[in-house]
Amino acid sequence: MAKKNESHVFGIDVGGSGIKGGIVDLEVGELITDRHRIPTPKPATPKAVAKVTRRLVDHFSWDGAVGVAIPTIVRHGVVHSAANIDKAWMGEDAVKRFSKALDRPVRVLNDADAAGLAELHYGHAKDYADGVVILLTFGTGIGSAIFVEGELLPNSELGHLEFHGVDAEHWASARVREDEKLSWKAWGARVNEYLAHLEFLFSPDAFIIGGGVSRRSEQFFPYLKTSAHIIAADLENRAGVVGAAWYAAQGGAP
Ligand code: BGC
Repeated sequence: MAKKNESHVFGIDVGGSGIKGGIVDLEVGELITDRHRIPTPKPATPKAVAKVTRRLVDHFSWDGAVGVAIPTIVRHGVVHSAANIDKAWMGEDAVKRFSKALDRPVRVLNDADAAGLAELHYGHAKDYADGVVILLTFGTGIGSAIFVEGELLPNSELGHLEFHGVDAEHWASARVREDEKLSWKAWGARVNEYLAHLEFLFSPDAFIIGGGVSRRSEQFFPYLKTSAHIIAADLENRAGVVGAAWYAAQGGAP
């Protein structure tokens, strides 16, 4: 049994290829265990995903609070989109599903919102917490989180803004870079154009660039030229897990 500590909460991040989880120390925003990863089941139906979350929690014999981040719009615990996950999620009461599978009350939020909360509380993004901050995660899709004076505007979905006739995430996500074999320069130019458009719409003080590519920031940051500050996410692939745990600790309505 994992040692009990008030500041320890379990975070889970449901991604397109892996479901990750671990125990987070909220005093410092760091995992105190390894970040355990189980491949995302195919198809990733609510039932199959919930089963994996149970395995993750059991792996650490954890019986305390749990937060889950999923790649969909989550309004008051209910799923309202399913762009990069099985369509069976549409309309699913995610809070009910995970709470039943884990046998305890669980809080659920969007994955990019979770990453943003983690960066804002524990990363460099906190330097801009009194202004407007936009976090973007570049992965299979593009996730977004908007903060105004530290308050989250949930479920912003800027990856689905229409851009060049398609959803922005079909033009500038990290997956597009790989699928279309774009050079860092060519992809960086796309991201720059996208950021320029977001800057015009929202006038943020800072963009936080997250997702797996944040580790390769030196490859494409030279091509990004907004007047807003651009910073690489600090928590890299841990942000979703840490943010989900942080959110679970807030309590209140799902
Ligand atoms: C989804 C978002 C999610 C993002 C990153 C998008 O396709 O619509 O809800 O945050 O992918 O996973």
